[in-house]
Amino acid sequence: MLDGKRILVTGVANHRSIAWVVAKVCAEAGAQIAITYQNERLKSNAEKVTKELEDVLLLPCDVTQESETEALFATLQEKWGQLDGLVHSIAFADREDLKGAFHETSRAGYSLANDISAYSLVTLAHHAKPLMETNGGSIICMSYLGGERVVPNYNMMGVAKSALEMSAKYLAADLGPDQIRVNIVSPGPIKTLAAAGVAGFGGMLDVVAQRSPLRRNISQEEVGKASAFLLSDWSTGITGETIHVDAGYHVMGM
Ligand SMILES: NC(=O)c1ccc[n+]([C@@H]2O[C@H](COP(=O)([O-])OP(=O)(O)OC[C@H]3O[C@@H](n4cnc5c(N)ncnc54)[C@H](O)[C@@H]3O)[C@@H](O)[C@H]2O)c1
Repeated sequence: MLDGKRILVTGVANHRSIAWVVAKVCAEAGAQIAITYQNERLKSNAEKVTKELEDVLLLPCDVTQESETEALFATLQEKWGQLDGLVHSIAFADREDLKGAFHETSRAGYSLANDISAYSLVTLAHHAKPLMETNGGSIICMSYLGGERVVPNYNMMGVAKSALEMSAKYLAADLGPDQIRVNIVSPGPIKTLAAAGVAGFGGMLDVVAQRSPLRRNISQEEVGKASAFLLSDWSTGITGETIHVDAGYHVMGM
């Protein structure tokens, strides 16, 4: 499905990371993979989990540092010369902005969450464009229903996901003429490092298991497969779209 594709996957923190499983599924489907880790602290984790992939490029990139993003794409230009896919799987908000009263969100917390979780897609897409414009490409990002509707405690991350989703749509319109597609994957709740920061996360898993059409939660592998589809030539007519991988939970009204 992805034979010969060169795909950059951001956001691998550990073996539970959605990004890691997306990378693994894409590699199994024939893609060559580059993976980024946020900092030195997470480097050894990334080295450990990605050991099983052959020929993987492992590169640092803290998206708050423009110089690191520039260095990342300079390396990809040098090693690969082109890029077919980009997976944005990065989010951060201060823990106090993921619980309680939303109106108490600080100005600093608001900007930080938007900068790391939403603006980073814009700058990554900007740098990916020159590597994608010859053959076209596919960019995906990970959102959550809390960016479309109010989910208790998701608070600041909900606002950041809303910004992320609209950024993806504006990018889809911008980059479409170069045959670069931009789509949104919206997974249901999954136990990961980032999810642990949301107050009452266990309750979110319970609600989906009880009330989603499929009456269960979803796995990282299911997100990986939907992502591989969007990164592949099986989805060349799709851009600016949101695919919910959430056992159907988003269709329920009550
Ligand atoms: N787990 C869920 O329930 C769930 C549901 C829907 C969407 N998502 C989204 O999926 C994506 C991946 O999250 P995850 O659940 O796999 O958790 P995770 O903690 O494994 O991944 C989050 C990643 O963001 C990276 N990151 C944070 N700040 C960064 C920075 N400044 N520069 C570069 N990287 C940075 C972390 O290093 C980490 O690798 C996120 O966008 C998250 O919001 C998660």
